Amino acid sequence: TAYSLILAEQRGRVGLITLNRPDALNALSDAMGREILAAARAFDVDPGVGAIVITGSTRAFAAGADIKEMAQKSSVEMYQLDWFSVWDSLAKVRTPMIAAVAGHALGGGCELAMIADFIIAADNAKFGQPEIKLGVIPGMGGSQRLTRAIGKAKAMEMVLTGRVMGAAEAEQAGLVARVVPVESLLEDAMATAAVIAGMSKPVAMTAKEAVNAAYESTLTEGVRLERRLIFSCFATEDQKEGMAAFTEKRAAEFKHR
Ligand code: HXC
Repeated sequence: TAYSLILAEQRGRVGLITLNRPDALNALSDAMGREILAAARAFDVDPGVGAIVITGSTRAFAAGADIKEMAQKSSVEMYQLDWFSVWDSLAKVRTPMIAAVAGHALGGGCELAMIADFIIAADNAKFGQPEIKLGVIPGMGGSQRLTRAIGKAKAMEMVLTGRVMGAAEAEQAGLVARVVPVESLLEDAMATAAVIAGMSKPVAMTAKEAVNAAYESTLTEGVRLERRLIFSCFATEDQKEGMAAFTEKRAAEFKHR
């Protein structure tokens, strides 16, 4: 499929989505959201793809939702069009997804990064939810995901003041998994994704589902789901292979990867 606002390519078992709207610092227009979702869904259902990396440019992961596109929209229009719902759909993709973030990750850019399963940040990354300066609030999940990621005090400060957080603070706060030099960001993210893509894809999807349940449920419910999910792993050939390989002191050759 040809896209005009992103690049989508497969490298080995990793699907790479590159936001490609440099003249607007990858501002996330509605059309761009649709392209991202289409590419991610195509990778999701492809057994040859075991992990997805989403990245932007060195200067900007994404500087937010497209302000110029939204500026004149009415409340009713947005309600009828179900504006931003494309991002809810993206969050439903089951394949593990890493955001490789360099430069600005502001507003919707920060929110998109948080929709991914974890963030690897370049040392020049800047995260923020500056919507309040525009007279609005986060609209792609930021008020919820940022609070869950870094806690109320820091999230509240960022959402109320629009303050931007650098990579080191973001790592310290638990927003990002790791910080790497900007020159090696993509290489590092692709290598990490390749590790995940070397696992059994259905089992990796199951692991993602289990961790995500921690956001949505009580401890008792979450542990109950985890128990159901690990028992379902035992229905896969890959569990038999993984445990046999350990016993036989060899590398596992997973069927579903
Ligand atoms: C549309 C954008 C944009 C955006 C940048 N551009 N961000 N266009 N929507 N979110 C455009 C600029 O208009 C400009 O186009 C070009 O990209 C380069 O940007 P500059 O501002 O010239 O670059 P620079 O001086 O380096 O400043 C970078 C920046 C600044 C600090 C990131 O662009 C900025 O503050 N952007 C907006 C950040 C923001 O508020 N994001 C949250 C959006 S709201 P031209 O054509 O002029 O060259 C959101 C949530 C929405 O995401 C949910 C609630 C409704």
